[in-house]
Amino acid sequence: MKTETGVAAKIIYLKDYQAPHYTLEHTELHFELLGDYTEVSAELRFKRALTAPKEAVLTLLGADLELLSVAWSGQLLSANDWQWQDEKWQFAGAGEGGVLSTKVRIYPDQNLALEGLYRSHGLYCTQCEAEGFRKITLYPDRPDVLSTFRTTIVADKASCPVLLSNGNCVATGDSENGRHWATWEDPHPKPSYLFALVAGDLAVLRDSFTTVSGREVALEIYTAEVDQDKCDHAMRSLQAAMRWDEERYGCEYDLDRYMIVAVSHFNMGAMENKGLNVFNTSCVLAHPATTTDAGFQRVEAVVAHEYFHNWSGNRVTCRDWFQLCLKEGFTVFRDQQFSADQLSAVVQRLEDVAFLQTHQFAEDAGPLAHAVRPESFVEINNFYTLTIYEKGAEIARMLHTFLGADGFRRGSDHYFKTYDGQAAIVEDFLNSMAVANGLDAGAFVSQWLRWYRQPGTPVVSVNSVWQKDIQRLTLTLTQTQSSKSSSTPESLPIPVRLGFIGKEGELSTSLNGVTANEHLLVLEQAEQSWQFDDVSQVPVLSLFRDFSAPVRVKAEFGDADLAQLIRLDSNSFNRWSASYALATREILALAEQYRSGDLRAHQPQESALAAAIAEVWSELAASDPALAAKMLQLPSLAYLSDQVACYDPEALQRARESVLLQVIAPLQSALGTVLAKQEMLKPYVYSAQAIAARSVEAVALDGLARLQSGAAAAIAQHWLKEAPHMSAEQAALTTLVHHQLPGADDALQAFYARWKHEPLVLDQWFATQASAPQAETRERVEALLAHSDFDATVPNRVRAVIGQFANNNPVAFHDAEGRGYGLIAKQLLAIDARNPQLASRLAGAFGIWQKLDESRQAHILRELDGLLSGDLSSDTRETLS
Ligand code: ARG
Ligand code: ZN
Repeated sequence: MKTETGVAAKIIYLKDYQAPHYTLEHTELHFELLGDYTEVSAELRFKRALTAPKEAVLTLLGADLELLSVAWSGQLLSANDWQWQDEKWQFAGAGEGGVLSTKVRIYPDQNLALEGLYRSHGLYCTQCEAEGFRKITLYPDRPDVLSTFRTTIVADKASCPVLLSNGNCVATGDSENGRHWATWEDPHPKPSYLFALVAGDLAVLRDSFTTVSGREVALEIYTAEVDQDKCDHAMRSLQAAMRWDEERYGCEYDLDRYMIVAVSHFNMGAMENKGLNVFNTSCVLAHPATTTDAGFQRVEAVVAHEYFHNWSGNRVTCRDWFQLCLKEGFTVFRDQQFSADQLSAVVQRLEDVAFLQTHQFAEDAGPLAHAVRPESFVEINNFYTLTIYEKGAEIARMLHTFLGADGFRRGSDHYFKTYDGQAAIVEDFLNSMAVANGLDAGAFVSQWLRWYRQPGTPVVSVNSVWQKDIQRLTLTLTQTQSSKSSSTPESLPIPVRLGFIGKEGELSTSLNGVTANEHLLVLEQAEQSWQFDDVSQVPVLSLFRDFSAPVRVKAEFGDADLAQLIRLDSNSFNRWSASYALATREILALAEQYRSGDLRAHQPQESALAAAIAEVWSELAASDPALAAKMLQLPSLAYLSDQVACYDPEALQRARESVLLQVIAPLQSALGTVLAKQEMLKPYVYSAQAIAARSVEAVALDGLARLQSGAAAAIAQHWLKEAPHMSAEQAALTTLVHHQLPGADDALQAFYARWKHEPLVLDQWFATQASAPQAETRERVEALLAHSDFDATVPNRVRAVIGQFANNNPVAFHDAEGRGYGLIAKQLLAIDARNPQLASRLAGAFGIWQKLDESRQAHILRELDGLLSGDLSSDTRETLS
């Protein structure tokens, strides 16, 4: 691999980890924000670590810095006194320790990578995780060097009335030439990736929270003045998250102030800087008029996620970036639990699982597969992946299932207490789980660590034999690891929650003398068997309830078995997953017929899925509308593509549409009944019930568009006219545009005229068009890229157009002539020159290439060769390589 300068890219290995030779006792920073450039002065008090050798060298990191001066304990140094290569700055004269004083100049206006300190639209802000701080000043920019911080910011008072950093504001004042300053002190030692600075003209919403021990915390949400009316939901979410973390994890907030800043130019969702979270506007702003239900839920989840990092990430941080899952996987699990408690637990779970199965499983099966704790990396920014976040969360969830809620809580208490203020590793987390529960720590850690070390998705094969005469069922489970796994894959501990579904419903059975409707097994060996007694009839197994382990299941279910689960399983999640499995089976079979040219059989063929859904759907739409809605959302092409060896987007799309039509055709009157309720036109309420009612109506409208397009168009127009909120408006617009119904273009124009001043709504307008599942969308996207509101420097806008097209529009992206790939490649090159992180993410869309037919593969490879032979960032180069 090569970097942009042509030198071999450096691979960093976990096994090479070395503790820092110098610890940092305190960091003092002074920022002069001066229009064209910024000067940063730093005073760093170092001490040689007890474990370090006498001849230890002080190693700091710096990138894109103009070094103005360096002094060691008051003595000016010259360039002969240090070595500076690539990003490493080394000084051999640090002895037992001392104070390093540096002054550097940086250029926030020119920073389009949005990493380090940057200014866009007048607002200064920082993004330091993972390695952005080295672009601000020379520093031991690694997560295992923690120190207290004192930060002074000086800036023009008129353009930057608000000056923020981590911790508590301890002094402010005016200085000459219309400038002013503020000093912030963060008493909690932290690594540099959690540093933040914000300066600009912002309005603030204030509220407060009283912690369990009675301390009053000031809560502040900073946004542009025009967005202040969109902060209530984030504020309520924050308060709910703070209370929840106290109750569920015993975690109390530890500063007097908690700030959130909304930034319109941001590479990611949000960032958990200590006491000063920086958020993408899309993850903090919400208002019924401009934000859909999905948007509201995202805000709630991300606000909670970043807040939860205060303990899982900040108070206990990561020793090195290989341990990223330690904070991210655990925190995602925590935010999933939180969201499940706020709205519907089942819907939350099935959405999380569908997301994992669609995207993480594909990552695990493709060229970018890696372990939850990888052994090596080139560009750390490429490792903020679904595997580390989502699979990492599943591992935490399995521990929770295995240890029980109380056992898991004992473990997390032990972890937070033991490692508070430290930089930990995955082994520490597992060790706490074992020790707090009186388990053999050595055995437990080595067994569970396998989940973190082995890449690939395990496969569990199921075999069951029922003996009528003795009413016994013998269940045999076998686990195999994918070939991606390390050379000698080892058996994993796999929790299996299961029940038995008879002809009339759930059966109670006995395992080792315990009689219950549900049992928890742990598959630890390559193969294991269990005997269940009192099994009075041959049951259908309801396996891996609530997706108790992130595995692929191989079981010989007949269509009738899956239909029985859809009808009768008491576990709602498994009712849904049975419908998903049956839909997948029918779509794949039909697609195979299309591919082989055998079109005879498909039309009159009975759909077992359609029959099962027809039987339950009306009742479900009344009793559990959210689940009813989900049952009609058949697996996406992205999901299906992971289920096949050869991916033929056209055949799959056709087959999917055909099965969907079979499913909804018998539901026409039921869909009418749902739509007649007009829940969509009621004033906005954020509750599980209201969201469920809206979601089933949106799905019903989409279904109706396939059966009676005229009627559907009329309802959509009615919604657009009467819409009391964006959820109705967006559902109507999507139906019109994605089904190319009459009036779609006028509706798009009217929507644009109404919302062109709201960037986040405009993003939706772009995204709706870029994801329209027709081949012509490619030309539309070309037009959108030339639209006066398209701005390639705003990540949200880029994702709304280019990201949607590449990742959420398989029909158009996989154009047989390769024109979709060409479009994306061209855009990638332009984006990469400015913003490598953003480009590298988009480049992931090509990860599917190996499954495509030869002709598409050739088209992709040609584009990739073209890209790789030019100037590319190391981020994007690594992804494409
Ligand atoms: N820690 C942030 C979170 O809460 C994400 C940071 C992503 N950083 C990056 N370089 N991609 O998930
Ligand atoms: Zn996170």
